[in-house]
Amino acid sequence: MKGLVLAGGSGRRLRPLTHTSAKQLVPIANKPILHYVIEDLVGVGITDLGIIVGETADEIRASVGDGSRWGATVTYIEQSAPLGLAHAVREAAGFLGDDRFVMYLGDNMFEDSLEAVVDGFGDGSARVSARLLLAKVDDPGSFGVAEFGDDGSISRLVEKPDDPPSDLALVGVYLFGPEIHEAARSIEPSARGEYEITDAIQWLLDRGDTVEHRLLDGWWIDTGKKDPLLECNRLVLDDMDYGVAGDVDEASVLDGRVRVDAGAEVRNSTLHGPVVVAAGARLVDSQVGPYVSVGADCTIESAAVAHTVLMDGSRIADGACLADSVLGRHAEVSGPGSASLLLGDHSVVELGG
Ligand code: G1P
Repeated sequence: MKGLVLAGGSGRRLRPLTHTSAKQLVPIANKPILHYVIEDLVGVGITDLGIIVGETADEIRASVGDGSRWGATVTYIEQSAPLGLAHAVREAAGFLGDDRFVMYLGDNMFEDSLEAVVDGFGDGSARVSARLLLAKVDDPGSFGVAEFGDDGSISRLVEKPDDPPSDLALVGVYLFGPEIHEAARSIEPSARGEYEITDAIQWLLDRGDTVEHRLLDGWWIDTGKKDPLLECNRLVLDDMDYGVAGDVDEASVLDGRVRVDAGAEVRNSTLHGPVVVAAGARLVDSQVGPYVSVGADCTIESAAVAHTVLMDGSRIADGACLADSVLGRHAEVSGPGSASLLLGDHSVVELGG
């Protein structure tokens, strides 16, 4: 089986962060979301990967390279315009050929491995055209939603319905056979102007193809907005390896699960885990945590920060108190004052006065 990873799109819901960088490269616990996606696919033996890229193609290529570091081979596929998931499948038709494949949205994260999800699909012997992954959600109107027939199989799919027929949403992993290509070529754009994958799968259902589904057990997060992104950061930090390789002075207190990477410095600060601190970061006279990811070369000085993702090179200082925030690369916040912020790269914010 091949893997098709979608890393195009404009990231509207994470602006201004995504004005300057790709939403798939936002770090969770200091690792880009897209890298988790690739690890997930490689983890189930899918190493022939096509990555759909758009406006942020250069940044994605720089971050992923040729895939050899994961033992994968990456083919980049330029999407001519961000016209939807089925459009991405159309543009990837040459790469995919007649192979069965996993389509994975590059901003989605999952607790569990794909093992149970892909099991038995690759050989194609059962003549199943698609296998969908569904999860129970509180806000089905924000997703593609499944409706079921009397026999318990999916009878209909609706994209972001006003009146959802169930609370089971389509999550960002789809398994397809080559039948999807004719479907993707046969549909018209939706009201939002996109070639919807839900419409393409509906086309398969209408033709009488077999479309299976699996219910997801563990957590799943579409990280495309600030709150789910921070929630994802919390979930991943709750479940990772900790250890201190960096330089922590005696005046500092490390409380709970804390990872300080080699090359990071902690001075006269209290870290309430879970917290991860990347190389080159400097924490001085500060309170950090819980649930904070401090990227490479960040500075936190005379400040407090909780439930926050700090991207590389960002700086918080002078009595600033941040919670529930995401700071882009080299963003700077100075106090005194408290705030919850979503800042793009190189933003400068002075709190209070
Ligand atoms: C897309 C799909 C939707 C699916 C969701 C999962 O929505 O269109 O059916 O439920 O991904 O993340 P979008 O993120 O494009 O709004």
